Amino acid sequence: MRTDIVHIGAGELTYEIRNIVNVGEKLQKLGVRVNWENIGDPIAKGEGIPDWMKEIVVEAVRDNATYGYCPTRGILATRQYIAEQVNKLGGAQIDANDIIFFNGLGDAISKVFGFLKRTARVIVPTPSYTTHSSAEAAHAGDRPVTYILDPNHLWYPDIEDIENHIKYNPAVAGILIINPDNPTGAVYPEHILRDIVDIAEKNDLFIICDEVYQNMTYNGTTATPMAKVIGNKVPAICMRGISKEMPWPGSRCGWIEVYNGHRDPMFEKYVNSILNAKMVEVCSTTLPQTVLPKIQTHPRYPTYLAERIKRYERCSNIAYDILKDVKGLHVNRTNGAFYMSAVFLDGLLNHRQTLPIADDSVRKTVEGLVTGPDVAPDKRFVYYLLASTGVCVVPLSSFATDLQGFRITLLEKDEEEFTKIFKTIAESIKQYLRSA
Ligand SMILES: Cc1ncc(COP(=O)(O)O)c(C=O)c1O
Repeated sequence: MRTDIVHIGAGELTYEIRNIVNVGEKLQKLGVRVNWENIGDPIAKGEGIPDWMKEIVVEAVRDNATYGYCPTRGILATRQYIAEQVNKLGGAQIDANDIIFFNGLGDAISKVFGFLKRTARVIVPTPSYTTHSSAEAAHAGDRPVTYILDPNHLWYPDIEDIENHIKYNPAVAGILIINPDNPTGAVYPEHILRDIVDIAEKNDLFIICDEVYQNMTYNGTTATPMAKVIGNKVPAICMRGISKEMPWPGSRCGWIEVYNGHRDPMFEKYVNSILNAKMVEVCSTTLPQTVLPKIQTHPRYPTYLAERIKRYERCSNIAYDILKDVKGLHVNRTNGAFYMSAVFLDGLLNHRQTLPIADDSVRKTVEGLVTGPDVAPDKRFVYYLLASTGVCVVPLSSFATDLQGFRITLLEKDEEEFTKIFKTIAESIKQYLRSA
């Protein structure tokens, strides 16, 4: 090429949650029976959509209007419905124009970070859901600026770390919060959210709050919505969607709610640029927006959701009870979403450890993948676990963190199988750490 055509942030775009699938599929072809515990897709893990929900969608499919474009911001009646739900919380007051629909939050995330001035940074958590950290880093063409989620304090944000980063890095313009969090499964207490809002107010920053798992909490916790604590000064973008809750990830439907959007002219201009980007693209998916209020207000929706959440609660406790006693591993009980992050204690992993692999071609494939000094120690563990047991998890180091560990989902529906998977992981960790 006579001129460099590669974007400055191209190197920042990695998504190990799906990358690991390539390795899993390769091993599958060699005869390994894979348990896919890597991706947060309830449908892929066998979640059945109830008939009453399908009926609502079928009825909408019969209506020609659902085949057309919709307004750029999204269907007005649906935005009015969402605005009413937010206003009922008694905090931030918004109207339909403060809401913009996207083709899934993935689309929202790439536009929210993509239309931020290159030199303005949003501080993101570490570990971090990669779609956020990669999009933010790619927009800046640099490593993400991160604040610590502390595994020794229930994975809560380290407020002092946030304050210090903001104090010493004038490029920071915003703070990202994911609550409940992916990949840790933590649900933050209200006082932490209030502290972050105070920091934003004191330093003239805006907040991005990803609440896609907002209604999926358990073990006695609830996630305080940002709308309730934001007050009337700090500009914020709250992200929500139907991928996890309904669950309908294939609908590609999510939205942003803008709080205090008129408080700051520069923030207003920025949000307008995001809207204009959507306008250039025309609009987002029409069908899921059409049915959203009907599904969420259906009398059977709350029971349906509650049953699923009960199952995640049981799984969170089974997983915690099995892994908490594994020497060399640190885990916290998951209280929201459907992920658990496990961390190996410092210095326990090395580049000699292995797990037994009976099949020669499987073993050779894995050995080929883990050679070289650049392979993170937890990635090596994850590959050996996959080849030896078929359990597919994601290395924690691929979530913008130096911590070594893995993220696993709590989505397996068969509880006996779920328990077996976690016992297998526990045994494999013991064996792996002993091996060298
Ligand atoms: C925290 C978080 N935000 C956003 C998304 C993406 O959601 P969507 O399917 O709407 O793109 C995910 C998906 O796993 C997620 O975990």
